[in-house]
Amino acid sequence: MDQKLSKAAQDALKNAYVPYSDFPVAAALRLADGRIITGVNVENASYGLSNCAERTALFSAYAEGYRKSDIVEVVVTTKNESLVSPCGACRQVMNELVPADALVHMVDATGDVKTLANHELLPYAFSEEELPE
Ligand code: THU
Repeated sequence: MDQKLSKAAQDALKNAYVPYSDFPVAAALRLADGRIITGVNVENASYGLSNCAERTALFSAYAEGYRKSDIVEVVVTTKNESLVSPCGACRQVMNELVPADALVHMVDATGDVKTLANHELLPYAFSEEELPE
């Protein structure tokens, strides 16, 4: 894993807007052109409208015009000494927006890392292939 990417995610934790959970999460994407894009969780008083760090980062990248093939690897981190695992909603979004073989690194505050390929996070995923033509 690229240490710069992990540091970018750790540095972004301070930007998390988490008045309800007090559980900051940050994600960082490394893009093929060398850029790093970060995202954090952004919560809402209507709890279900909260957005996870992974989706914030991905939507920011797409909003700048990047697409699936531009994404090389992903880091997700917290301030905790245990790994954070992307939630189901994020896995569904990552299935669509991140290449299947891109590596997803779950990094804890001590630097421990668990790495999986994106496709391992959501077996039997629902995708555009299921939709009628
Ligand atoms: N959260 C993320 O941002 N990413 C994850 O992978 C897991 C959960 C956020 C959602 C909510 O703001 C807080 O963590 C507690 O669930």
